[in-house]
Amino acid sequence: MLAGAQGRAAQRSMEILLALGKIYGADRLLPVASVQIAGVSYDNLGEAGLAFLQEMATDGRAVALATLNPAGLDVDDPAALGIDDAFAARQRQVLEAFARMGVVDTCTCTPYLAGNLPRFGEHLAWAESSAVCLANSVLGARTNREGGPSALAAALTGRTPRYGLHLADQRRPTVTVQVGARLAGCSDYGALGALVGSQLGNAIPLFTGCGPDVSLDQLKSLAAALATYGGTAMFHMRGVTPEAAAAPDPPPARTLTVQDHDLAQQRAALSDEGEVDFVSVGCPHASLHELRRVAAALRGRRVQVETWIHTARPVAQVARRAGLLREVEASGARVACDTCMVVAPLKGRFTTLATNSAKCAYYGRSKNGFGVRFATLEQCMALACDPRGGQP
Ligand code: F3S
Repeated sequence: MLAGAQGRAAQRSMEILLALGKIYGADRLLPVASVQIAGVSYDNLGEAGLAFLQEMATDGRAVALATLNPAGLDVDDPAALGIDDAFAARQRQVLEAFARMGVVDTCTCTPYLAGNLPRFGEHLAWAESSAVCLANSVLGARTNREGGPSALAAALTGRTPRYGLHLADQRRPTVTVQVGARLAGCSDYGALGALVGSQLGNAIPLFTGCGPDVSLDQLKSLAAALATYGGTAMFHMRGVTPEAAAAPDPPPARTLTVQDHDLAQQRAALSDEGEVDFVSVGCPHASLHELRRVAAALRGRRVQVETWIHTARPVAQVARRAGLLREVEASGARVACDTCMVVAPLKGRFTTLATNSAKCAYYGRSKNGFGVRFATLEQCMALACDPRGGQP
C-alpha cells in the first residue's frame, strides 16, 4: 500500500497511519474490525475538507466496515430544519464522496445502535469522541480517539497503529471517583461527566458508588460528557463495565469525591438564564427508550418553540413503525435524523437552547453562541410546550 500498489488514496492513508504510529511509538499495525468517521458536516469541513474527501474518493475504497457521524442536515428533508440550498448542495457532495469510497452513510454518533456494534476486545478506529468512550468503556472494544483523516485512512487500509488504548496496560484507571451523589437520570450522568472531565482531563477514572442499575442511555450521556469536558476516551465503573474487575486492587491512589452539592453546582454551571427559543434532545442520538420517553412527555401537547429530537435513521424507522413518533410529530416537534444541533449550521439562529445533554450544552455555548438551559428530558419537553414555565 505504501508503495502505491493499491492506489493513491490507500498510499496516502498508509502515510498518515505510519506518521501517527511513529509519533506515538507504535510497534506495528493492527487490523480493525470497524471504523467510525467523524468530520462529516460541511459546517466543520468547509471547502478544504470537501476537496480532500473528493480527492481520496478518486480511487479510495473502504476495506473495513466504516460508518459515518452526523452530517449538517437531515438528508431526506433539509428544508424542514431550515437548512439552505447552497449548504445542502455542498453537504450532499461530502456524502457522495464518502459513498463512492464505500462508507455506509449511517450519519449517527451512536453507530452501536445502528448496525456497527463491536464486541469485547475488538480493535477499532473510531473518531466520534462519545462513541469512542462508550466503545472502550462499556463494550470493552479498543480504540484510540481518532481524527477524521486517520479514521478514513483506517477505513481505506483496514489498519490502525498499535498504541494507546489498543494496549492493555494503557487502559488501567488512574483516578478513583467516589460518587456519593444520587444520580437520578441521564442529565445527572452528563453533569457527572462534565464535572469529572473538567477536573481530571484525560485521566481514566474508575467510578465507584454508582451503578449497578445504570442504563445504556445514562452511560452514553456520561461517556459523551467525559469526552467533551476532559478528552477522556475511557472510564471504568465498578460492577458495570467489563474491565473494571481487572482494575488494580487497591484502586488508584488519587481519589476524587462527588457529593450531591458538587453535582448541584455543576448542574447550575451548565445553565444560563433566558427564555428558551430552541429545544433539542438526542445528544448522543436518542435510543428507542429515549424516544418512548419523548413520546410520553409530548402526548396531547403542542410545542411552542422549535424542537428537535435527534436520532439515527434506522432507530427512527423502527420507532415510526411502532407508532412512537406519531405523538411526537403531532406536537409539532421534529424528529431530525442524520444530523444534530451541534453539527448543523445554526450559529446565530436561536438565543437560548434547552437540552438534557451536557455535551450539547458545551457546544451550544462554544460553537453556536447560545445560552443554555440544562434540564432533564421531561423538563426540556415541558419547556418546549411552555417556554416561560416548563413544568413536566
Ligand atoms: Fe452526536 Fe451531535 Fe451530540 S454528533 S454526540 S448529537 S454533538
